[in-house]
Amino acid sequence: MLPKDSIANTLVVSLALCVVCSLLVSTAAVGLKKFQVKNKALDQQRNILAAAGLTVDRGGQEISAADMSSSEVEKLFEQKVTRKLLDIDTGEYIEDAEATFDPRKAAKDPERSVPVDGPVDIGQARREKRTWVFLVQDEGKIQQYIVPIYGMGLWSTLYGYVAVDNDLRTIQGLTFYEHGETPGLGGEVENPKWKSKWVGKQIYEDGVDVEDASNNDIRVGVAKGAPSSENAKYMVDGLSGATITSRGVDSMLKYWFSDEGFGPYFKRLASQQGA
Ligand SMILES: Cc1cc2nc3c(=O)[nH]c(=O)nc-3n(C[C@H](O)[C@H](O)[C@H](O)COP(=O)(O)O)c2cc1C
Repeated sequence: MLPKDSIANTLVVSLALCVVCSLLVSTAAVGLKKFQVKNKALDQQRNILAAAGLTVDRGGQEISAADMSSSEVEKLFEQKVTRKLLDIDTGEYIEDAEATFDPRKAAKDPERSVPVDGPVDIGQARREKRTWVFLVQDEGKIQQYIVPIYGMGLWSTLYGYVAVDNDLRTIQGLTFYEHGETPGLGGEVENPKWKSKWVGKQIYEDGVDVEDASNNDIRVGVAKGAPSSENAKYMVDGLSGATITSRGVDSMLKYWFSDEGFGPYFKRLASQQGA
């Protein structure tokens, strides 16, 4: 037995305490991992439903995605949404998709990513070659296409989803599910009032067919302040006091709808619709 107030005893006790605590923390981390994964997937589903503007009826009340219970989210997602793995450059689906494919990991892997080389800077060096896109179906017909977008704001990379109507030129919704912008400034990208302004905005210059659209025909974006009447059908108001975040959202939309982003995908869909 070591004397109670010896240095050796202090060290032994602290060491034992460290071992016990680290065991507790790692057991908790491992034990909770499956709940974390499930919650992350649920949060992603909720955000996709929110971008699509889908609601459920609860006793005559219309409930939006943010207020749905976990089981309502899972059920509605299962009923209405299909996930597809997309080859971004060709705009074709990959049929033998690996269910666990993680686009964020792919974006960091030189083999599975390409340099970001678009019409605008989105503050990212590379982007993944493949990603998940989501089709919203109703009565056997595709109503919306939902694509993931991301890009740099002021402090952080913002990650979100854009829902595009089956006319392939009208925005149905935009949500951001992860960012580190300042609450009340750049964080207002999450404000339901601002998000609602995106519904109905036009992606391409009026009169230009999706199939023929060049990067210069992409008009959707964020104005500095309120958009002029000429721009109002394409743009939403900039966030006040958050010019840099607003510019980030503008750039990421211009990039992800360009020919370096989802341009080939929407062009393929347009040509199939026209066929
Ligand atoms: C504490 C602090 C947090 C800020 N957070 C943001 C932000 O999240 N997004 C943003 O664009 N600007 C943010 N800004 C403001 C920028 O520094 C910059 O001044 C602003 O984007 C310019 O916008 P304005 O032309 O509307 O003033 C923040 C400023 C401070 C002092």
